[in-house]
Amino acid sequence: MDELSLYILDITMNSVRAGATEIQITLAEDGEWLDFTVTDNGCGMTEEQVKRLTDPFFTTRKTRKVGLGVPFLTMLAEMTGGYVTVKSVSEKVSENHGTTTHARFGRNHIDFIPLGDIAETVKTLIQGSPDINFTFTHTKPGGEVRLSCAELREELGDIPLNEPEILTWIGDYLNEQYEEISSI
Ligand SMILES: Nc1ncnc2c1ncn2[C@@H]1O[C@H](COP(=O)(O)OP(=O)(O)OP(=O)(O)O)[C@@H](O)[C@H]1O
Ligand SMILES: [Mg+2]
Repeated sequence: MDELSLYILDITMNSVRAGATEIQITLAEDGEWLDFTVTDNGCGMTEEQVKRLTDPFFTTRKTRKVGLGVPFLTMLAEMTGGYVTVKSVSEKVSENHGTTTHARFGRNHIDFIPLGDIAETVKTLIQGSPDINFTFTHTKPGGEVRLSCAELREELGDIPLNEPEILTWIGDYLNEQYEEISSI
């Protein structure tokens, strides 16, 4: 687990497992920071559950795979001078339930790990959950890369987003946008 995109995948899989139908993945980079935020309309967590999730004394489980989960992400972020915050509203409390996880990394820190292949991560998520409305936005100094599954679905009608040709198109579409903003 030496690429941030794998952690983004892991955090987003939490949203998928929480039964979310809308998931926004936002990445923002400037010279100093890399921020990513995953927002979902899933079942949410109670205050107690959020506390347990972010408190290392509660979250050190023997069953946890090494290098996954919110506590490990928090450690990685803090090592670079950043942090992780989790805000959540439980479905037990409100109809407007869901979770927002925000992670900030110091890009110039020696412990910063590279982002890796985020386009591939987005493709993997859509392949596994073609009915979820993912919105992906990546803002860099040169411009913005964007993909909206809801908008794509409007164009495609009934064709599932995990058809191989569609997935290939999605990958190309993202990579073309990355090329465009890197040449600015
Ligand atoms: N977006 C979310 N919505 C609802 N519950 C969440 C969300 N994110 C995390 N949780 C709750 O917090 C728990 C811990 O999450 P965490 O990612 O640390 O570990 P995990 O997903 O259980 O296991 P791992 O990530 O190691 O495979 C989850 O099992 C889930 O109960
Ligand atoms: Mg997880």
